[in-house]
Amino acid sequence: MSKPRILVVGATGRTGGTIVDSLLEDGKTHVEALIRPASNANPTILKLKDRGVKIHFGEIKDDPQLASILAGIDTVISAIGPGAQLEQIPLADAAKKADVKRFVPCAFITVCPPGGVMWIRDQKEQIYQHFRKLGLSYKLIDVGYWYQASFPTLSSGRVDYASLLVPNMTISGDKNIKTALTDLRDIGPYVARCMTDSRTLNKCVFCYGELLSQDGLFAKMEELSGEKIEREFVSPDQLLALCDAIKASFKYNLSDMKQAMTVIGLEYSYSMFVRGDNSPEYAKYLGYLDARDLYPDFVPRSFEAFARELVDGKAARIF
Ligand SMILES: NC(=O)c1ccc[n+]([C@@H]2O[C@H](COP(=O)([O-])OP(=O)(O)OC[C@H]3O[C@@H](n4cnc5c(N)ncnc54)[C@H](OP(=O)(O)O)[C@@H]3O)[C@@H](O)[C@H]2O)c1
Repeated sequence: MSKPRILVVGATGRTGGTIVDSLLEDGKTHVEALIRPASNANPTILKLKDRGVKIHFGEIKDDPQLASILAGIDTVISAIGPGAQLEQIPLADAAKKADVKRFVPCAFITVCPPGGVMWIRDQKEQIYQHFRKLGLSYKLIDVGYWYQASFPTLSSGRVDYASLLVPNMTISGDKNIKTALTDLRDIGPYVARCMTDSRTLNKCVFCYGELLSQDGLFAKMEELSGEKIEREFVSPDQLLALCDAIKASFKYNLSDMKQAMTVIGLEYSYSMFVRGDNSPEYAKYLGYLDARDLYPDFVPRSFEAFARELVDGKAARIF
């Protein structure tokens, strides 16, 4: 029997990259990638080709070529960047028309309810509503917050090279609320397992590596580096006021991704460290399956293992 064909959208990105790595390692499927023509000079494409990934060039919106690219594809996995979420609507339409068996939309964020808590969640929910309306089979996978975006920086500057923000010594909301965190590199192995698992069909799955509070993250970084971190505190009220002021400053129009990114970051903090949404218990309440129950064989990386690489100067520069 021939192997199922999986088409990854966003294969040159961080999430898409880990998914492609794991699917190739798994070897149970043919891995293909849809790349927008404007990105044809991206050096990652050559690396993907060298590893046996079939490359298709095409737009995901209104491209007549899309139907022929999707013909015969069993599963589409989208790991598209945060600024292009709604472009998955025409992709889902085309997948439905082409009789694609399963659609894995770009979820891959924290657990959070829809309805105004996080703008990025609500963008993604529009896609979920759309493929449910189409009756398109799906698998929806959320992953907690990346270790790679969670650590505080150190006064010596030795982890600045890998940090999203410099400096980053702020504790927002409640320092003791534990939240689900994941090493970016563990997303792929979880996704690959979900792909061949019929228990995950038309279900939401929650994967994570470790539950840690901000206090726990700071303490671990202090322990491994031998440095004291001067914490700055932002209260829940200050966090909300800051978020509102930023949104108001650009008239609540989040179409500019640079502006939206600030809001996305603050809303993540509000959801995780004020509301406490991003937990396995709340995920179960919202109807998610827990990947730890499904795949007890997989041992995700610990935050400590990641932080050791970081402090030793060996973490990847992903931002
Ligand atoms: N859980 C977390 O902590 C966390 C952290 C960050 C992101 N995320 C989520 O993960 C998802 C992926 O983010 P990422 O940071 O991994 O993405 P990324 O590294 O920025 O990569 C985005 C990918 O999407 C492709 N892309 C962007 N716009 C496109 C378009 N209009 N048409 C076709 N392809 C397009 C890019 O292709 P090109 O090569 O053509 O640019 C690239 O392959 C996001 O939706 C975000 O919400 C979660």
